[in-house]
Amino acid sequence: MKRIIGNWKMHKTVQETVHFLEHVLQRLSPEEVYLAVPFTAIKEAAAFGIHVGAQNVSHEPEGPFTGEISGRMLKDVGADFVLIGHSERRHIFQETDDMVHSKLLRAHQVGLKPILCVGEREGEDREAVLKRQLEHALKNCDEELALRLTIAYEPVWAIGTGKTATPEEAARAHAFCRNMIGSLFNKEIAAQIPLLYGGSVKSDNIVALLHQTEIQGALVGGASLDPKEFVKLVELSKSVV
Ligand code: PGA
Repeated sequence: MKRIIGNWKMHKTVQETVHFLEHVLQRLSPEEVYLAVPFTAIKEAAAFGIHVGAQNVSHEPEGPFTGEISGRMLKDVGADFVLIGHSERRHIFQETDDMVHSKLLRAHQVGLKPILCVGEREGEDREAVLKRQLEHALKNCDEELALRLTIAYEPVWAIGTGKTATPEEAARAHAFCRNMIGSLFNKEIAAQIPLLYGGSVKSDNIVALLHQTEIQGALVGGASLDPKEFVKLVELSKSVV
């Protein structure tokens, strides 16, 4: 089964979240809906029985960190997964590879499933960036964490720009990530980790991307905000076997 995960970023109030879910759940079952919503909407979204995620988690468990939210707090309001290392966190908020690594450990410790985001910026050496990001994020991680991991390959130049990697290009990047995970853990684990593509995914390009066997789903920003488009994306993903 291919999986679509919406990433709402800094969009939607509680009331807008409830309206969205009332609409999409007329067409989809709650188990098919995965959304990384703003912190403020997690609790209400979780009450619909969907898979709810946060978009960030503190790299510290507790303490004097004004403005931060811990993994335990996220679990407490019903989150079951969390995006870690999204390019907007890395590049706008200066999150380092070491912070990304600590966040992965924190999320895992409290039972939040991590979705690790990786990807190169325009003009960067793709494989060198993916290697560095994956090696740093996953150093000394145990197999139990690896087996709960999802990885999202999101070329930064494709995020919110309307440009997408070609399906073949995305599949090559995914194969590279899978090989890297194979060398950091082992081939059996690498084969089990879902790899999602992200970056300007819409209903008119999703099918070609998902036809690549290396691509197990998509992380969708802008197009996940509109309930009709979100339903369409999930329905199209179900049509690709
Ligand atoms: P986009 O965002 O679909 O709007 O390009 C994807 C993401 O940032 O996860």
